[in-house]
Order: sequence, then C-alpha cells, then structure tokens
Amino acid sequence: MKRMLSGIKPTGQLTLGNYIGALRNFVKYQDDYEMIVFIANLHCITEYQDPKDLRKNLTDAVALYLACGLDPEKSTIFLQTDVHAHAELGYIMACNTYLGELNRMTQFKDRMAKGEKNMTAGLYSYPCLMAADILLYDANYVPVGEDQKQHVELTRDIAQRFNNKYGETFVVPEPLIAKVGARIMSLSDPTKKMSKSEETNKGCIYLLDDLKSARKKIMSAVTDSLGIIQLDKVNQPGLYNLIEIASSLSGRSMEDIVEEFKDQGYGKLKGYVADVVCESLEKIQNRYNEIIESKQLEKVLNEGALKASKMADAKLEEVKRKIGLEIKY
Ligand code: TYM
Repeated sequence: MKRMLSGIKPTGQLTLGNYIGALRNFVKYQDDYEMIVFIANLHCITEYQDPKDLRKNLTDAVALYLACGLDPEKSTIFLQTDVHAHAELGYIMACNTYLGELNRMTQFKDRMAKGEKNMTAGLYSYPCLMAADILLYDANYVPVGEDQKQHVELTRDIAQRFNNKYGETFVVPEPLIAKVGARIMSLSDPTKKMSKSEETNKGCIYLLDDLKSARKKIMSAVTDSLGIIQLDKVNQPGLYNLIEIASSLSGRSMEDIVEEFKDQGYGKLKGYVADVVCESLEKIQNRYNEIIESKQLEKVLNEGALKASKMADAKLEEVKRKIGLEIKY
C-alpha cells in the first residue's frame, strides 16, 4: 500500500480552507493509502503564540481531525513534538538546503517584500523542517492545498540531493493537489487566500464558527457588479470561489450549480452556498462536541506517537549512519 503523509499547522482555529484543501482529502484517502497525519506544532512557533491559545488550538485541531472523519484505526495521528526525530532530521535537512532555495520560497519572499519586521530564523528555515516531516516516513504522496506545493517540490529536491550524495535513502514524494478546492479564497477579498492569519474575521470561515455567523459571512461575501452567474475566475473571482466551495462540499460539479442558479441572482446562490457550508459545519461540530466530551484524544495521540516514532526513529538512524554521524560498532 502506498503511503501518504500530511499535516496542518494550527496557528489559529482550523478554517474551511484547511478542510476543503486538505483535511477532507485525508479522510477520503485513508481507505486506500497508509495515511499519516500529524499536528505540526513546531511549525506554529515560528511566530509568537500565546501559550494558552496555542494549547487550545492544538487540542481543537486533534478533535477536529477526528470530527472530520479521520479514523485512528486507519490513520496514524500524532503531535509533531511527540516524535523527536522531526526536529533532529529538520536540522540535518537544513544542512542540506541552500540559502538560495529558501530565498525563493514564495511565502517567505512575499512577507519580506511586504517589509515585515522581526521574522524569525525558524520561519526562514521552516521548509527544511517540513522536508524532514515528509522524508522521515518514506511518504509517496503529500496531499496539500496549492500554497504548499512549492514546499513539497523543495522536499523532492532535498531528497534527491541527499540520495545522490549518500546513496538511496529517501523516497522522493509527490504533491497531491485536488482539482477543485485547492485554493479557497477569502470571502472579503477573493484575490487573497482564505487564511487563519486574516486580520478581520470576515473573509474566513472557521470550522468552529457558530452557524449564524458563518452564514452571515457568506451572505456578505464580496462578489461583483456584473450580475451574471457563470464560471469566470478572472473577472468574477468572488462568485467563482463561492461556487467552488459549494461544489467541494456537495460533490456537485461547478457547472451543475451554475445551471441551477443562473437565472436566480447572487442572493439565492449565496443562500445555497450558506446552506451547504452550514450543513457541513453542523455535522463536524456535533462530532467535535462528542469527541471533546469522550476524552479520547490522549489515547489517540499516544498510540499515534508510538507508531510514528517506530518509523521515524528507524529512518533517522539510517540517515545518521549514512552521513557518518554514528560511531557505534
Ligand atoms: P497550513 O497549516 O497552512 O495548511 C494546512 C493545509 O491546508 C491547506 N490550505 C488550504 N487549501 C485550500 N484553500 C485554502 N485557503 C487553504 N489554506 C490552507 C494547505 O495547503 C495545507 O495543505 N507547512 C504546512 C504544514 C506542514 C505540512 C508538513 C504539510 C508542516 N509539515 C508536511 C504537509 C506535509 C502548513 O503550514 O499548512
């Protein structure tokens, strides 16, 4: 069985973008692949997080993994810091990555260009840790949203370089990006990605938003003044985004949705999108509440960490031996 690995970095509450672009795909794939999914908590602290908020966000993220349908019987689910090999291989990967490569990472470049101050060394070298996350497990595929593609491509380059230098060690992974829903846009500015770090809350739906406020955000989503319901991503990015969200969650094609609403106006279409989103959120939130009450998270994380550590430790040993760091006989 081919192996798949992915993670989410809960610097805030998980978003509808995380769900559509990543989480729901993990759930789909867990029946056909050996699925490894972790909470990337080390990645969270590349920027200051209030410790209390961070702890809550991490706990909620695990509960949401399960609430969205990840099954600990089928998938290995764990917290990154419970498997020490991540940080150690992360350092080794940093020693096999060139500054030029990190300078080209668009997420970092964009923030530099905006003149952001006080960016940390952790933020800069974060793709090296991400490479370690993936390569520790010999993952064949990495299901991610569009914004993470470049990081997986860098991981491939690092793996190939390492294999050439030290002999076949790592499986070279492939990014797996869904055709629909790989880049859900902000509802208040459809030229930007829907993201946890958004300043105003209006453009981002969180999986734990109350249904009334989620509906309100959709009903007031920015669209355009053309008044035509059609699929035109360039001229009507807001409308396109809403249709893409509804299509991802309902399983209907985007064309089918356009066909139904083309003569009904934006208000009706938004109402439909809100219904579809709220239906999904309600299911997830009901499960989330049950999971939080059942107190099963600790057991799931302990078992996941044990399984993951076995795989990761073996790979790290192999890496250290190949590099010449080990002197045991
Ligand atoms: P993160 O936490 O930013 O996002 C988690 C996943 O959600 C996807 N995503 C989106 N997809 C569609 N539309 C959006 N608006 C949207 N926003 C987020 C992301 O593409 C991602 O798949 N570096 C990673 C976490 C990570 C990781 C890994 C992932 C660390 N190590 C190893 C895969 C493998 C990150 O910050 O994702």
